[in-house]
Amino acid sequence: MFKTAVTEMFGVETPILMGGMTGVGYGELVAAVANAGALGFITAHMFDSGQALFDEIEKTRALTDKPFGVNLTLLPSINPIPYDDYREAIIASGIKIVETAGRAPTDHLPRFKDNGVTVIHKCTSVRHSVSAVKKGVDIISIDGFECAGHPGEDDVGLVVLLPATVDALPGVPIIASGGMADGRSLVAALALGAAGVNMGTRFCATVEAKIHQNVKQKIVDSNELDTVLVGRTLRNTARVARNAVSEEVAAIQRDPTKSFEEVRELMAGKRGRDNVLRDGDTDGGIWTSGQSQALIHDIPTCAELVRNIMAQAEGVRARIAA
Ligand SMILES: Cc1cc2nc3c(=O)[nH]c(=O)nc-3n(C[C@H](O)[C@H](O)[C@H](O)COP(=O)(O)O)c2cc1C
Repeated sequence: MFKTAVTEMFGVETPILMGGMTGVGYGELVAAVANAGALGFITAHMFDSGQALFDEIEKTRALTDKPFGVNLTLLPSINPIPYDDYREAIIASGIKIVETAGRAPTDHLPRFKDNGVTVIHKCTSVRHSVSAVKKGVDIISIDGFECAGHPGEDDVGLVVLLPATVDALPGVPIIASGGMADGRSLVAALALGAAGVNMGTRFCATVEAKIHQNVKQKIVDSNELDTVLVGRTLRNTARVARNAVSEEVAAIQRDPTKSFEEVRELMAGKRGRDNVLRDGDTDGGIWTSGQSQALIHDIPTCAELVRNIMAQAEGVRARIAA
């Protein structure tokens, strides 16, 4: 047993979270994560409307009686995203845990607070963590440079960023995110002051993740060198899987004479979701993966995964204590 502020606050058996994931964070996976004793988040912006999100939450409830949450990724978008409707769907459905990412959720906090929703804000720097807590978020999930998706622009690894955030925010539960994949990660994160770990890439390579088997196998076959940073020159860096498309995008973006227009089509999220995640062509578009893929060697069920992580963590704890 690993009892932490996360297990106590949320009533989950383990201090393991699965953060929001575009193209992956659907109800079936979130329910499997919940039934395994961890805390998963449905990814709101994959749904067209507040009602569609509400329906997904209801569907998930039918698959588990354990706690789960919703991720709100607050990013600027060309097409307006119905964030207020998502927020109201979350409240109406009785969800009590929200993971936010992107900008701070300042405008949504009063409604969440009034309705007893705990907000975990995921960010990538000490200064953003401090500022988000001042604005009223309850918990910080701190994403190191290793992470899949958006690591920010400061390039600080989690082994420094995590304890630096813990030191800056005494009394605030901090979750370690980025590069976490097994029981060793969990014990190390707890040693550095975290109250839990957040995993993304690790949960993509599970039986219940509704993505093509080729993608799961590609994660297993990849190592710590098989990711690429795109979007650097736009100050919107994303860590994605190394493949023909991400290498091409990164090469174009290193050329200062080229504009975003020259990578727009290559970077299209729909292309990654359709060609890669759905159809299994791992060179068919940009798809998100983290350095933690170096630590991923199998495709278990979520229950097996969580069991294995906790068993390894117990073993590590015993070894250190001996
Ligand atoms: C396929 C994929 C899609 C993701 N999409 C989102 C997203 O839409 N919103 C978000 O807040 N984080 C997103 N993430 C980041 C994860 O929630 C998590 O913070 C990250 O994966 C942690 O790093 P790790 O992959 O090393 O565990 C995504 C990650 C992956 C692997």
